[in-house]
Amino acid sequence: MKQNHKRIPIFDKLQQFTYTNPISFHVPGHKNGEIFPGQARTYFDSILKLDMTELHGLDDLHAPTEVIAEAEELAADFFDSDHTFFLVGGSTAGNLAMVLAACSPGEKIIVQRNCHKSVMNGLELSGAKPVFIAPEYDEAVDRYTSPSYSILKEALQKHSDAKAIVLTYPDYFGRTYPIKAMIDLAHSYNIPVFVDEAHGVHFTLGKPFPASALSLGADAVVQSAHKMAPAMTMASYLHLKSKFISKERIAHYLQIIQSSSPSYPLMASLDIARFFLAKMQTNELEHILQSVNGVRDILDSCDAWNVLPIEPEDDPLKITLHVKQFYSVQDVARLFEKENLYPELITHNQLLFIQGLKPFHKQDQLQKIVKRVGEQLKIKSNHDTIEIAKLFPEAIQELALSYQEMHARSYRRVPFDEGIEHIAAEAVIAYPPGIPIILKGERITAAHLAATRQLRNQGVRIQQRESGIKIYRK
Ligand SMILES: Cc1ncc(COP(=O)(O)O)c(C=O)c1O
Repeated sequence: MKQNHKRIPIFDKLQQFTYTNPISFHVPGHKNGEIFPGQARTYFDSILKLDMTELHGLDDLHAPTEVIAEAEELAADFFDSDHTFFLVGGSTAGNLAMVLAACSPGEKIIVQRNCHKSVMNGLELSGAKPVFIAPEYDEAVDRYTSPSYSILKEALQKHSDAKAIVLTYPDYFGRTYPIKAMIDLAHSYNIPVFVDEAHGVHFTLGKPFPASALSLGADAVVQSAHKMAPAMTMASYLHLKSKFISKERIAHYLQIIQSSSPSYPLMASLDIARFFLAKMQTNELEHILQSVNGVRDILDSCDAWNVLPIEPEDDPLKITLHVKQFYSVQDVARLFEKENLYPELITHNQLLFIQGLKPFHKQDQLQKIVKRVGEQLKIKSNHDTIEIAKLFPEAIQELALSYQEMHARSYRRVPFDEGIEHIAAEAVIAYPPGIPIILKGERITAAHLAATRQLRNQGVRIQQRESGIKIYRK
């Protein structure tokens, strides 16, 4: 790091501005918080004072030259990128921009199949021709994680004309994999690698966290600062360090995707998140780690589940409870929620807890909660386990229709079982963590339907607006 990370340029400028008691004859309509109804005002008051617009001296996110440029430069210095973009539309905006910047209609892009839906949406918007690579079923953690090196190698041999590769690292549960070898392989084909590191903004801190994708050679990396660092929801970064993809191209798509009135509190929180991370000391990290190990032990004191052990490739801030088959994960989650303790996510067999970047001080309370949850938990009547390990029989897969063909066709909704052998006009996604069981544009198989039915029976939420499934007409 070359720069002075004690500076917080956007926040400082906004703060100075509030000291001048500015009179607002501009947007936003709350007039520096003066117009805001009732009780809500008490909560919003201080933040509304920072909720400015592009006034003189406050710069412009889409063409930054002053405080926003300065804040982005500080972030670039800390994260060691060539350029860092502040995002006010979450990693969602970053993923869309990366894909759009890489591909014109019909151009190939290799994509990890269990990617976030924003990547899928980027594919559809760009009209690219995706080549999906399936994740491996990771027996150690009993879920799908990442694609293997050999699958990527095979995909690259068949599709060396791909314009980019999109990988997710870490997965939602904080598990990483040897991504460097995959990046090096892609670079040997002169293909850039984009990484959705939405859950890994803190990896730049180094040990005990896994290495960041940017430090391992990725070309563009998106991180949700709001997920693991103290930033406001939607505040994210897009880091660029590539000879393959230009800053101008990414900037072009970001200004298309993102609001022309980006939120100053969000941008200031990105500035503050970088400041927070940059000032973190090794001893603080040690305290956090000790604390998370303590939390892990407490959570592990119930027989109804196991806490998955942490491997060197895992983010230690993520704690995964693997619920035994005699119990329902939904029941476990509801009992925790009854105690006002809210886990991050629930799958058919696991529950994810996330510790923040600070020590947790309510151990006694947690101990009591875990005990009460264990005592109230009842053995479920149906002990069936589901065989999702064979969800993706095709390791490398293309869609049955191009996005342009899909766009031109009409579709109809049919009962789920009648969808078999037709081409899906919508994705069927188990959410969270967002694994697409059926892709939009994919031919529906009996295995797809069986997997969807089983997951649904297990209480997994399938993200669909209506029942049945949309299929394309011939
Ligand atoms: C892997 C992954 N990528 C991207 C996103 C989208 O991030 P954001 O909420 O910052 O838009 C998420 C959200 O959960 C995610 O899990």
